[in-house]
Amino acid sequence: MMQNFVFHNPTKVVFGQDTIQQLDQLIPTNARVLVLLGGQSAKTNGTLDLVRQALGNRQVSEFNGIEPNPTYETLMEAVAQVKREQIDYLLAVGGGSVIDGTKFVAAAAVFDGDPWDILTSWGKAVTRALPLGVVLTLPATGSETNCNAVVTRRATHSKRPFNSPHVYAQFAVLDPTRTYTLPKRQIANGLADAFVHIIEQYLTYPVQAMAQDRFAEGLLQTLIELAPGALADQPDYQQRANLMWTASLALNGLLATGVPQDWATHMIGHELTARYGIDHARTLAMVLPALMQVQRHTKHAKLLQYAERVWHITTGDDAERIDEAIARTRQFFESLGIGTTLRDYDLDERAIDEVVAQLIQHGMVALGEHQDITPDVSRRILSLAL
Ligand code: NZQ
Ligand code: ZN
Repeated sequence: MMQNFVFHNPTKVVFGQDTIQQLDQLIPTNARVLVLLGGQSAKTNGTLDLVRQALGNRQVSEFNGIEPNPTYETLMEAVAQVKREQIDYLLAVGGGSVIDGTKFVAAAAVFDGDPWDILTSWGKAVTRALPLGVVLTLPATGSETNCNAVVTRRATHSKRPFNSPHVYAQFAVLDPTRTYTLPKRQIANGLADAFVHIIEQYLTYPVQAMAQDRFAEGLLQTLIELAPGALADQPDYQQRANLMWTASLALNGLLATGVPQDWATHMIGHELTARYGIDHARTLAMVLPALMQVQRHTKHAKLLQYAERVWHITTGDDAERIDEAIARTRQFFESLGIGTTLRDYDLDERAIDEVVAQLIQHGMVALGEHQDITPDVSRRILSLAL
């Protein structure tokens, strides 16, 4: 049966070409704005210039250097700047890392107590945050329209998620032309990450959530259809526009309404990134096919539905159809140029022990929609991913 739910997504989406200029209407004229940035991309591709122009005469400062997989250590420097300059509005310009980092800064800047508790409480300790807006440059995480963020503590290799309704962006500007400078590696990552976000909310057990299932299947098929063109040498507006909106829809809360969710692939993947620095999406591509295999009995009904409706597999007995659906999933990642085994990333058996030890250390001992992915099951999944 469909579960009870509340659905409320307050982020205003401003989508399309030349929309960055609308920042002027979106941010109060008397705001003291901090623009938060990643490494170099927004500077070198002109996005930052467009943002500066749109902000006009507002008091604007910048914080540079939020790294991929943003660290607590770096973000606390931004928190210090916010306090020092009495900033009252944050603007993230970048991909998931910059947006997640900005959400953390928004909460930490007005947090009473040790800001690391924001992460250890999974966000429950957050009672308020500074207002924030987003200019998205990388379609992948959905962070622009959700209230999640993931932050890494460099010192301890801890990569921890939190969520809080207080850190929804007030608005997200999505201009597909701002993605034209992305390297293929990041486009591939975005396709894979969005794909797995949909799977985490869909591939569990049936609860007769008809619209959510059809949305999920439609978005999965859209990503499969988009993939070859999105990776072509010349960026194309229609391709990028569809990719950008699909990746947002994949994790804006809509698919999760009323249904069980898994997220074990993400939790195991986060440990692989924290330990070995592997791109987020690539860790998911290693874990997911193996997880589908190990959990094929508890996911039996949904795997068959996925096989038929997403991959059009209509022949063979149940086991053959599920085998084929898992194989097609692996092939999809490989077609993006993303390796799906630990060995593809030069990892061996030792990595299995290290990742399982980290899962235990971080309390990730009952994962998945049935909370039945214990450290032993995670070990089986990682062994199969070897
Ligand atoms: O740092 P710069 O120089 O800006 O370069 C970035 C970065 O190196 C580059 N880039 C971004 N836009 C560009 C560009 N290069 C050229 N042209 C552009 N237009 O791309 C690189 C990767 O950026 P990053 O933000 O790290 O990638 P992504 O958007 O994939 O974000 C990954 C982070 O999001 C978290 C991940 O764990 C990871 O930390 N996630 C957040 C989620 C959420 N908030 O809901 C859900 C996800 O599952 C995920 O966990
Ligand atoms: Zn993800």
